[in-house]
Order: sequence, then structure tokens, then C-alpha cells
Amino acid sequence: MIVSGSASQSLAASVAGHLDESLASVEFHRFPDGELLAAAPDIEGRRAVIVASTVSSDTHVELLQLQDAVRGAGVEEIVTVLPYMGYARQDAAYRPDAPGTTESGYPVSARAVARAISTTTDRVFTVNPHEDAVCDFFDVPASPLDASPLLADPLPDDLTDPVFIAPDANALDLAETVRDAYGTGTADYFEKTRRSGTEVEIAPSDVDVGDRDAVVVDDIIATGGTMSEAIAVLDARDAVRIFATCVHPMLTRSAHTRLARAGVAAVYGTDTIERAVSDVSVASIVVDAL
Ligand code: R5P
Repeated sequence: MIVSGSASQSLAASVAGHLDESLASVEFHRFPDGELLAAAPDIEGRRAVIVASTVSSDTHVELLQLQDAVRGAGVEEIVTVLPYMGYARQDAAYRPDAPGTTESGYPVSARAVARAISTTTDRVFTVNPHEDAVCDFFDVPASPLDASPLLADPLPDDLTDPVFIAPDANALDLAETVRDAYGTGTADYFEKTRRSGTEVEIAPSDVDVGDRDAVVVDDIIATGGTMSEAIAVLDARDAVRIFATCVHPMLTRSAHTRLARAGVAAVYGTDTIERAVSDVSVASIVVDAL
């Protein structure tokens, strides 16, 4: 059976459809004191695949509850699919007041949540974690899945001499993959310096974007600070149209407005985080992995 976390209901239904497996009924409650209860009352069968993006601390707790409920119902094999793994960006001890430094007494949060998830599952898949090495934090076999080739699908067919730009060097692989999947264009990257949790500074490369369409590619758009800076740089350099695409469209707070004000023509993402811009489904790559 396929079991859906509260933040992955469309994707879980899609995976169930592709596999022709039953979609378990799920219930989500919140008690007056704020505590949560997630249940899968009709779960049965030998294997359960729990599809649950941990987009918040609440959804992380719900996942642990679903895993416990499913194991308690006698399911032999539990596969946990994290379309988006929350806390994965905290893959080292991190001091918010001194970014870039590490000190004892601070948690490796990605490791903490990975260990908790590992206690009641046999296998984990997660889509484009910030670093693939985060999979090593799990105590059970865990593998990354790559959705980046799918990001070319919703782009307009008529891009003019497109340049696929990564807002930092780490995302260049993604930009190259999207360029290859699109079939034409060049790939380049900017240098990024993070000033705070919401503000970044982008140093442009010398790539010529005049008279060209630009596509900014990143793994995640969270506050939109990174993407809006990259878009503003491209706009100032007279790119024709500027598109933003990412695997995980978290889009917190005023992110979409920041991108629009910077001059983006359209924003695209996948359904690892279910948002209005989730034009691409990762169901096929999840199904292939299962
Ligand atoms: C950082 O290295 C990531 O790849 C993203 O660029 C970043 O996390 C996006 O966050 P935000 O939208 O808040 O700038």
C-alpha cells in the first residue's frame, strides 16, 4: 500500500496510480494542546511505501507516527520516500549567529532527523537532497533520486539562445543537467555569498546574457533571496526573459513576490513540495526507484 504524509497527498496518489497499488486512508488530527496524531487505520499487506515530504517539524512528527502505525499493524517492509527532506540543509553543526563556523554543542540536524526516521523503516529514498552525502546519516540503506532532468519539461519550447545559470557553483551540475535535457544552450554559474538567512550577494560571471533568454536553476527556492538576486543581476544585464526553476519550491514568506519584483517571467518546480508552481511530477522517478 502507498501511505501519504499530509504534505505529499497528490504525489502519493500519483505514485499509487502508476504502481496500481492501493492508496491507504490516512487521518491527521491535532489535539487541543497542539500535539499531532497521524494514522493509517486500514493499512494491510506485506509492504508499505510512505511518501511524506518533511516540509515542517509537524510533518516530520507525522512521518514518525505513520511509520510506527504501519509497523505496529504488522507490515513487514517499510519504504520511506522523502520527496523533500526537511533539515537536510543543516548537514553540519551550524551557529546561526556565526554562519560558516562549527562548534561542539550544536547539532547536526540532518543527522538527528535521519536517525529518527531510520528507526522504523527498511529503506529510504529522497529526491535531490542538498548534498547526496546526507544519505550517509541514515542507519538503513538510503539513496538520492535525481529529478533535475525533469525540470526542462515545462520550459517554453521557443527559448532564444538560452543560458542556464546556477546561482552558485554547487548548483552548476543541476544547470548543466537541465540544459542537456532541454537540448540546447550554455550553462554558467554565479558566485554567491550569504549575508543572512534571507539575504545573499551574487557576483555575476562575465557570461553575456544580452538578447538571450535565461533560466536560473537551483535545488530549492526557500525565501527567494538567492533566486531574486540572480534574477535581478540578469535583468540588469538585459536578458530577454528570465525563468526560475527548482526541484523544491518551498517558497516561504514573500518568496514569490520577491521573484516577481525582480523580473521573473515564470517560476517552475516539482511536486516534492506541493505548490501552485509544481508543474513537474517526480512520481515517475519514485516509481522507477521502487
Ligand atoms: C543553497 O545553497 C541552496 O542551493 C539554495 O540556493 C538556497 O538554500 C535557497 O534559499 P533561499 O531561497 O532562502 O535563498
